[in-house]
Amino acid sequence: MSESWVNSGRRTGSDLHLELAATGSRRAALTRALRDAVRDGRLASGSRLPPYRSLAADLGLARNTVAEAYAELVAEGWLTARQGSGTRVAQRVGAPAAARVPRRVTGRAPVHNLAQGQPDAAAFPRTAWLAAARRAVGAAPNEAFGPGDPHGRTELRRALADYLARARGVRTEPERIVVTAGFAAGLRLLFSGSALQRGPLAVEAYGLPFHRELLTATGVPTRPLPVDEQGADTAVLGSLDDVRAALLTPAHQFPTGGPLHPERRVAAVDWARARGTLVLEDDYDGDFRYDRQPLGALQGLDPERVIYMGSVSKSLSPALRIGWLVLPAQLVEPVLAVKGEREGFTSVVDQLTLAAFLDSGAYDRHLRRMRQRYRRRRDQLVAALAAQAPHIGVSGIAAGLHAVLRLPPGTERATLKAAAWQGVALDGLGPFRHPDATGPAPDGLVVGYATPPDHAWRAALEALCRVLPPDLAAGDA
Ligand SMILES: Cc1ncc(COP(=O)(O)O)c(C=O)c1O
Repeated sequence: MSESWVNSGRRTGSDLHLELAATGSRRAALTRALRDAVRDGRLASGSRLPPYRSLAADLGLARNTVAEAYAELVAEGWLTARQGSGTRVAQRVGAPAAARVPRRVTGRAPVHNLAQGQPDAAAFPRTAWLAAARRAVGAAPNEAFGPGDPHGRTELRRALADYLARARGVRTEPERIVVTAGFAAGLRLLFSGSALQRGPLAVEAYGLPFHRELLTATGVPTRPLPVDEQGADTAVLGSLDDVRAALLTPAHQFPTGGPLHPERRVAAVDWARARGTLVLEDDYDGDFRYDRQPLGALQGLDPERVIYMGSVSKSLSPALRIGWLVLPAQLVEPVLAVKGEREGFTSVVDQLTLAAFLDSGAYDRHLRRMRQRYRRRRDQLVAALAAQAPHIGVSGIAAGLHAVLRLPPGTERATLKAAAWQGVALDGLGPFRHPDATGPAPDGLVVGYATPPDHAWRAALEALCRVLPPDLAAGDA
């Protein structure tokens, strides 16, 4: 049995016929009826829904029941709510795509890509890179075209030593640098042979699941360190008795975004000294800091206790597969022994090109340009949220290529569904959390504001604002 009502749609100017099932909760019945009306086209894309109060009066429901039904449908992506323009039927852009999680899921390509993880691919400095490649290949000695040295080309190690000392405060010389095929390859290298003792590794309670899985697969279990706005709580390290080393993102905690507090930096290094162990420093986006001078590398505090790890995946492109380890002196030979006789992964031609790119100043110029671009986007993201969703907090914005949006409790999953339905690729905060982490597990989104090309950025930002959950405390829509 069902009851039916015809709503005069006084403010919308259109009649709305809704049939509410007589059984079950009123809110569920209304949600279902509205969803059906959108699905079968009776409520067209873009049309405005009645204010809570008038629909509640027409249907004989409590105002809150209508507000909650609208909120649920906004979170699912059927409706959008914007301050000043009320609640409307969402513009549907295509069939639902699966919600994005850090491990890529299959589905149609998103219309708006705000997934975290990569720089603006359209901004790859093609001309300058080609010019560097031309110079590097032209000047390279014949032996450069033989098998690669697993240590990495001297030209690149020299250029990196200069750059890292100047820009990141790393204390090194070229002999301590080992070229890798990126951060993940470096991590594998450290633990897959006998360079480092395999044993539990302290990691941040929020981090990339891919890295945790890689470690587990290499026989290295991980133990979570609590994370807050001051980065990882390194004071906890002393109480983790079985831990052999620690992996941290000191410049910009990934993904929550805080820099590691100075006292915590010192505590991490003191712990490594006292235990006779090591800190692994993941400096994945340390070149991108917007509001003040970049934070120098933790490695600068003690090069014998900190392994510095970096790559060009955020600064240039993850397609290049070039990274580096800056090692304590006694670890260079053991790591090279794991690499074996020949370089097996990173192209020597690309290494020479990167060396030429660094030496000519093109890398600095590219970073300056990208910093300006990403800072502008960061500012636009913050401004759009302040105007359209002031109830959504944003953090981790001082640096990097992504920001964290704090969602109302219990709304992360539905927001991701809504985003997928509207063709917006986004990451939820939940999957970055270590499975053994304790303490609060806030709902949130990790927004990769660097990802879209410039021409698609504005539309992506608008699409993001449309899928955010409404502020239930703010009163009528
Ligand atoms: C936390 C973190 N570390 C390191 C990296 C770099 O990884 P890779 O050099 O293996 O591409 C990324 C992604 O770019 C990252 O998100």
